[in-house]
Amino acid sequence: MACAFRRSIACQLSKVLDLPPESLIKSISAVPVSKKQEGADFQLSVDSLLEDNSGRSRPDSQAKADRLAEKLKCGSVVSEISTGPGTVCFKINRELLTKAVLHQVMEDGSEYGLKSELFSGLPQRRIVVDFSSPNVAKKFHVGHLRSTLIGNFIANLKEALGHKVTRINYLGDWGLQFGLLGAGFQLFGYEEKLQSNPLQHLFEVYVQVNKEAEEDKNIAQLAHDFFRQLELGDVQALSLWQRFRDLSVTEYVRIYKRLGIYFDEYSGESFYREKAQAILQLLERRGLLQKTAYDYYCSLTRKGSAVVDLSGNGDPSAACTVMRADGTSLYVTRDIAAALDRMDKYNFDAMIYVTDKGQQKHFQQVFQILKIMGCDWAERCQHVPFGIVQGMRTRRGDVTFLEDVLNEIQTRMLQNMASIKTTKALECPEETAEKLGLAALIIQDFRGLLLSDYQFCWDRVFQSRGDTGVFLQYTHARLHSLEETFGCGYLNDFNTTCLQEPQSVSILQHLLRFDEVLYRSSQDLQPKHIVRYLLTLSHLAAAAHRKLQIKDSPPDVAGVWHGQTSSVQSCTFCPSQWNETSWNNTCM
Ligand code: ARG
Repeated sequence: MACAFRRSIACQLSKVLDLPPESLIKSISAVPVSKKQEGADFQLSVDSLLEDNSGRSRPDSQAKADRLAEKLKCGSVVSEISTGPGTVCFKINRELLTKAVLHQVMEDGSEYGLKSELFSGLPQRRIVVDFSSPNVAKKFHVGHLRSTLIGNFIANLKEALGHKVTRINYLGDWGLQFGLLGAGFQLFGYEEKLQSNPLQHLFEVYVQVNKEAEEDKNIAQLAHDFFRQLELGDVQALSLWQRFRDLSVTEYVRIYKRLGIYFDEYSGESFYREKAQAILQLLERRGLLQKTAYDYYCSLTRKGSAVVDLSGNGDPSAACTVMRADGTSLYVTRDIAAALDRMDKYNFDAMIYVTDKGQQKHFQQVFQILKIMGCDWAERCQHVPFGIVQGMRTRRGDVTFLEDVLNEIQTRMLQNMASIKTTKALECPEETAEKLGLAALIIQDFRGLLLSDYQFCWDRVFQSRGDTGVFLQYTHARLHSLEETFGCGYLNDFNTTCLQEPQSVSILQHLLRFDEVLYRSSQDLQPKHIVRYLLTLSHLAAAAHRKLQIKDSPPDVAGVWHGQTSSVQSCTFCPSQWNETSWNNTCM
């Protein structure tokens, strides 16, 4: 919708400026709704037309904007042209704005904004998103929680925009921790506990064996031996490992479901231990592997470890270790093998890894080594880092399991709901509490720049006033209940003249911006643009609720109105995509 208006303005501008409309469209944007007065709907930044991209307004840009505005004429679409500092502003014919926006909302439904011309030039791409990726038997810490939420956001957004997304959970399912776990389970494990609560029991065993191994060298040796058996492919050791993994994955699937999250693939480091060896051989054959000097601290039977020089000039500080002294691979080596495998399997156009910023260097190294190995497609790999969150604790202490966070959210929200007198009796309050609480958690996590660190505070998450997820859910519920009570007839047949109050116009204007906001988030992968947009929308809806009464208003004013043809009938502005359904009857 917004596109049709942008295009129409661009067409007019193109005649005056003698530039193709396509090149102008990107300089035209919807004006953010200001709290002050009802203003223009679109603006053209004169600076963005001039080839200076410094972002600063030039001293003569106001004069340029004025000169340009003088050459433009109002018509059936644009009813008013004005200028601001460095901008030409356009106000759309009010009835047309109302009709067109609502028509588009009705036609596109949940795809509103996604069909925008802003995205139409972009081909469908194959995108792999690697996110969540906890380590079996270890803590599911708040970093994993953020990765889960952010990765899911990115995957959902890309999918909504029409891309083919593959969601991968790359588990930490290999390494010495499994030696400890294997030995530990034989010593302190209980079959029944493993069956009834695998994540909890594996974690307990892991904590206990770790402690004991520190004090007792025999236990440390047992763990070492168990891991060696795993590495050598011992059938019994592997079958125990496989059980730990399978039981954990079944639990993960169940818990992610509570969040509405799923994965296309549960991969993990274990898949790549052999392929990582092949990578080491490949690096060696290409002369890229440098064995470090013999490691005198290791036993005489051990070789030295091996590095890849990332500097190209032998700078030791830019060397990345890819092989341990005992010949086994490392996290980085396995990630290289995984990237190559995914390229083979998915032929991706983009691969996005979501982890905390502590792994920035790790991913830089992975991408650099891929490049050195001649994989041009390393350019398509991207790490989306996020900041560290401190102080998230549940009743049981530090975050250890995802399920604890979800239970905490539910309990806290139930308490909140019980303390508010206006809360209605619900069929399943636990379910509502969990949904509300989750929205609250997600919104506070997504409000800032992903890279920023922050101190976690439950009270802030759940505060009932202000810009919170609870406010968004409340607005949604309120609007939904309006629709349930009064129906959606107004979308098919409405009187545009009844929707000209400032509160209505602001909402329409805000709706015009949605595609631009989606575009921004899809470009920088920051959810904050969408979050801010939704919060503003909720505030606008609240203002409309206060001022515009539906109950007890006459049907045409309330929006349950039928009949009478609008004066927009005579307009000439009717882009081809609108030539359908009820728009035909009223506009042509
Ligand atoms: N399991 C890792 C950790 O907990 C995160 C894995 C991220 N993905 C990857 N391909 N390295 O730190």
